[in-house]
Amino acid sequence: MRILVLDDQEIIRVQLKRILQKSGYAVTEASDARTALEILDREPMDLVLSDIRMPGMTGLELMKTIAARVPDIAVVMVSGVDSMEMAMECLRHGAYGYVVKPVDTSGILIAVANALRRRMLELEHRDREGILARKVREQTEEIRNSREEISHRLLSASEHRDNETGAHVRRIGLYAAEMGAILGWDLEGIDCIRAAAPMHDIGKIGVPDRILQKDGPLTDEEWIIMKTHTTMGANILRDSTVPFIQMGARIAACHHEKFDGTGYPGLYAGTQIPLEGRITALVDVYDALCSKRVYKHAWTEEEALGYLRAQQGKHFDPDLLKIFLDHYARFRQIFLDNPDKFAPEEIPLRGL
Ligand SMILES: [Fe+2]
Ligand SMILES: [Fe+2]
Repeated sequence: MRILVLDDQEIIRVQLKRILQKSGYAVTEASDARTALEILDREPMDLVLSDIRMPGMTGLELMKTIAARVPDIAVVMVSGVDSMEMAMECLRHGAYGYVVKPVDTSGILIAVANALRRRMLELEHRDREGILARKVREQTEEIRNSREEISHRLLSASEHRDNETGAHVRRIGLYAAEMGAILGWDLEGIDCIRAAAPMHDIGKIGVPDRILQKDGPLTDEEWIIMKTHTTMGANILRDSTVPFIQMGARIAACHHEKFDGTGYPGLYAGTQIPLEGRITALVDVYDALCSKRVYKHAWTEEEALGYLRAQQGKHFDPDLLKIFLDHYARFRQIFLDNPDKFAPEEIPLRGL
């Protein structure tokens, strides 16, 4: 253990040094606070044994500086005055001990050993907290990844039959998470919607190919079946105890509801539509408009934004739309950063 002995009186330094060295400590000396700080800047120390009254910076001021600059060092004050007030002042400012001169061998050794022990326990405690915090971070990351993997694997089953590409569903999760972040949701909620929103069309797995992949407009009867992908999706995901799947069920059920109540399955209007459903409805339409499909060209940004604005309060929640437009650059960036992997022409595109 390395100890820095600081006292303006050489005789005291020599005395302390002798006591400490005899007990196996490595001792460095300093005669004033400035020199002590210079030494601390270049050499690692475990403990500083400091005089209080010195010319220049006092021991108390030095201790405050040490606490700010090198907080892992234990400081024990050595005082010329036996004052309870002074002792309390030192302890309040973080001193690990307070010894009164003239120092006796056992008094100084006990104070030093106690201070070093307390410092060691504090460092161990902090290490343990650091390890724990890292573990929690790793596990959170793992949970997030497994959520997204489950969601994407579930979807891959239906992906090939549908007009929605893997990149589209991933983008929906990213836009929805961005919206959650802008709305001030906590990380848990944001992670949840990132994994849940991509499942909005999972119910299409129950729509027959002849409808899903029909070349041409759907008949009224076929539309009725097509629309059931909302309730079928909700049925696939319902009764889960896992929050992101519960959210996925609400999104599947509500992502074609419209704010003015004219959507389907037509159970809700306005803010009765769960917020995550209103978010997904908005970003799903935005992404579909901007994407190229075999039955349509990608709309320009102006066209897409013009359509969204025209649907304010009709299809879309006006407050959410305003937030979306106010932070539009962030959503656009998600679109640009996550392009479709396949040329749209290669994908059998039908359906909604
Ligand atoms: Fe849908
Ligand atoms: Fe979609």
